[in-house]
Amino acid sequence: MSVLRADTAAIASAAAALGAGACVAFPTETVYGLGAVAFDARAVAQIFEIKARPTFDPLIVHVLDAEMLARVVRDVPPLAARLAEKFWPGALTLVLAKRPEIPGIVTAGLETVAVRMPAHPVARALLAATKMPIAAPSANPFGRLSPTSAEHVRAQLGERVEIVLDGGATPLGIESTIVAFDPVPTLLRHGAIARESIEAEIGSLLDATAPTEGSAPQAPGQLLQHYAPRTPIRVIDRLPPLAVRAGAAYLGFQHGAEGYAAQRVLSPAGSESEAAAHLFEYLHELDALGLERIDAARVPQRGLGAAIADRLARASAR
Ligand code: TXA
Ligand code: MG
Repeated sequence: MSVLRADTAAIASAAAALGAGACVAFPTETVYGLGAVAFDARAVAQIFEIKARPTFDPLIVHVLDAEMLARVVRDVPPLAARLAEKFWPGALTLVLAKRPEIPGIVTAGLETVAVRMPAHPVARALLAATKMPIAAPSANPFGRLSPTSAEHVRAQLGERVEIVLDGGATPLGIESTIVAFDPVPTLLRHGAIARESIEAEIGSLLDATAPTEGSAPQAPGQLLQHYAPRTPIRVIDRLPPLAVRAGAAYLGFQHGAEGYAAQRVLSPAGSESEAAAHLFEYLHELDALGLERIDAARVPQRGLGAAIADRLARASAR
């Protein structure tokens, strides 16, 4: 594996590797993705292998512009077009009817495909150089903490990825929000764009974000257990007695707590977006300490708080 600073030469090498059927990791504004050319079923199969991801969990296809979008989806219904107009390029994923050229492995056999037009300059430069849509889930082993730096990718996926483009820390730090139209607009995953912002554009969304038990959830990816650190984590409403804090780490929203072996505060200013940007970074740091437990304070549900609460709930599910 080579970790390369994402300059023009590195992006050209990464595009060439993708064109030759390899997998490449790259930054987006949300998290790092592990990409392959979306039309290349063999290359996409390697993504599932490298991540140890079950093939019932479909991938997100990244596109540069409207022209590339038209190679991936059959049509864009009016409400989806409104959202694309408002939020693309950006951290919104739309689930739309797929074109037959998108192989079944990308969509786990579904007739729909999840698409996103990313805003990150490195992701865009890679798409422009590759001239192909890129299928990319988050660049972490299945079920583990999402990667918000090139170092997270290197440490978690090791030798199996040919090139990691290093574009620094990802600005939003949490995955895209996913909306489907079947035919009613439905929220499938809380993410970096708050539900309220989407509802302000197109009215209320059905909510299909509730975790489902079992291996083949009705909305794929809505798994009860996900985003998990190795260290056991629990969400707490009130601090435990001092005596049981010493061997553990604390993840606070706005405030710290005394007596813990280590702690991080997501946003001293109490901003949900700042907290979202730090969530996985801090979880990676606390996890690396190998303590007996992480106590995570419950975050307020407003705005991006819903996405944070969703990640913490799944990370703590056992
Ligand atoms: O921010 C992001 O979305 C990042 C960056 C790399 O773009 N990607 C990401 O991908 O989070 P991933 O694989 O971790 O999440 C993909 C999820 C699936 O687990 C599933 O919930 C949903 O997208 N999905 C994909 N295709 C779908 C489909 N056809 N129908 C319903 N849900 C779908
Ligand atoms: Mg993921």
